[in-house]
Amino acid sequence: MSATDTTLKQRHRAMWASGDYPTIAHIVAPVSEHLVRACGVREGQRVLDVAAGTGSSAIPAAKTGAQVIASDLTPEFFDVGRAAAAEAGAELEWMQADAEALPFDATSFDVVLSAIGAMFAPHHDAVARELLRVTKPGGTIAMANWTPEGVIGQTFKLLGQYAPPPPPGAQPPPLWGSEDHVRELLGDGCSELRLERHTLDVTAFPTPRDAVGTFREKYGPTIAILNHIGDDADRLAEFDRRYLELAERTNLAGEGEPARYEYEYLLVVGTRA
Ligand SMILES: C[S@@+](CC[C@H](N)C(=O)[O-])C[C@H]1O[C@@H](n2cnc3c(N)ncnc32)[C@H](O)[C@@H]1O
Repeated sequence: MSATDTTLKQRHRAMWASGDYPTIAHIVAPVSEHLVRACGVREGQRVLDVAAGTGSSAIPAAKTGAQVIASDLTPEFFDVGRAAAAEAGAELEWMQADAEALPFDATSFDVVLSAIGAMFAPHHDAVARELLRVTKPGGTIAMANWTPEGVIGQTFKLLGQYAPPPPPGAQPPPLWGSEDHVRELLGDGCSELRLERHTLDVTAFPTPRDAVGTFREKYGPTIAILNHIGDDADRLAEFDRRYLELAERTNLAGEGEPARYEYEYLLVVGTRA
């Protein structure tokens, strides 16, 4: 890996480790549970969770009796994950790994899955190549990815306008939520590819302002943007105004009710050719 790549990975790791992602992981955990069910993970299988975070997919997968490795660029999440696994009575391994260069032999796993995780590595073709490489022929490759049109995709589009410039060749994460993009990256390596749009109901925030406040305070990518804006008060006020407008516009709750969102994601389940 070049020195530039190493610096970039360190920066991404530090970004994800900032704030308090485990709080958000809790809110979006049903996406992971859906992904594990959709793969039909079962006892005896070798399973790799890529960009596993605190193990929202890896832990339910391990509960089936499968042999699971939870891998992530950000090992800072593993202590929370280990505690959650112990509480759930699940046994699994935790390993630091970059989704763009997985430290595993070819055809090592029956199931390779990633819930709203590998989509955040900047080079999508490298990720696709690695997911395909480490999956056994006939095995399952599965992802859950925020769509570009959904609430999170729209939020990323807005945040991108205030973020530091992306690294060369980087592609936006929610592209992984577009059917054409996924077919292009995984289609040739899979004998079957199931793509379905689903929504996660989110009622964790009393108001749109609380939703924005949570992401501002706890979500690494938003914190990186706030750091980039720095003390430019006008730009910060504009960012906050536009973010709140989006959170209000996408709130599905009626007047006076607690906020309610539907976060759309693309469920991808492929059979490795
Ligand atoms: C939104 S979180 C999702 C975590 C977990 N899958 C979940 O559902 O809670 C995104 C995760 O991607 C990880 N990540 C980002 N870039 C990565 C990369 N290049 N390789 C591996 N993991 C990466 C982050 O460290 C973070 O844990």
